[in-house]
Amino acid sequence: MKHFLNIADTSGADIEHVLEVAFALRDERDTGKANHPILAGKTLAMLFEKPSLRTRVSFEQAMNELGGQAILLGQHEVGLGKREAAGDIARVLCGMVHGIAARVYDHRHLIEFAEHSDKPVINMLSDWAHPAQSLADVMTMMDEWGRDAAALKGRHIVFVGDGNNVARSLAMICGKLGMKFTLASPRDYAFEDAFARRVLDVCPAMEFNATHDPANAVVYADAVYADTFVSMGQEDQKASRLAAFAGFQINDELLRHAQNELIVLHCLPAYRGIEITDSVMDGPASRVFRQAHNRLHAQKGLLAVLLGNA
Ligand code: CP
Repeated sequence: MKHFLNIADTSGADIEHVLEVAFALRDERDTGKANHPILAGKTLAMLFEKPSLRTRVSFEQAMNELGGQAILLGQHEVGLGKREAAGDIARVLCGMVHGIAARVYDHRHLIEFAEHSDKPVINMLSDWAHPAQSLADVMTMMDEWGRDAAALKGRHIVFVGDGNNVARSLAMICGKLGMKFTLASPRDYAFEDAFARRVLDVCPAMEFNATHDPANAVVYADAVYADTFVSMGQEDQKASRLAAFAGFQINDELLRHAQNELIVLHCLPAYRGIEITDSVMDGPASRVFRQAHNRLHAQKGLLAVLLGNA
């Protein structure tokens, strides 16, 4: 694995290895001792075109705890695609740092970075995918069902909401790890046909479903996943989106349809009372804060593998 732009381009074996390293580093940290400084002398450049809490802190803290350092670059100083072309930025950075991580509006900028960088390029969220999030999502499921990848096989993950970047990465990682995935979305917010075909090309044995009926979708779910109905950059669509997603809130009434003892996940930030209620978010099935904390550990696993050859 040279870069980490997409789950589709990452093998199941590489995903499992990153998760194994992530758990080992978390266990080491849980003993109360510092992690071995396996990234000493390594620097990660982090470029953000969009706001972030979890991703920014988890990547920077992961570098710190593994003995390396991170340099934060804001869009105003870099001017990605405006002040300077993505390829030129990558060619400059890869001569100075050991890895480039970026959160971008346009996924093509990440592809351009990777084409022009001999150092690893990491997707910290693009309009197309959020693969770093999906690693923490799976860690949280493994905390629940067992660390062995076999414990995930056949589990049914139901994403209720928009067929967005988070949902695409989650669907793809479910397929790579032998899980079933259902997207329950309004008709106009389903996955693109091309993406649905790609999932089944990459994971031909996967059980992959789409529905517009969330109550039916959650009946046999092992995990139900929520995300905002209005992602960053879609603020001008807020009114139409909130109207379209009426009936897609994860609330107690929806969860009454579930027959399994499921867990509830949310990548955060959450808009409480919109896509998820307080009672679910703070209720016994919620694992959303463990999931957020797992961002740190998943990032460590990823950075240790990409920058430290773990
Ligand atoms: N889930 C997630 O990526 O959070 P941030 O946008 O705060 O980084």
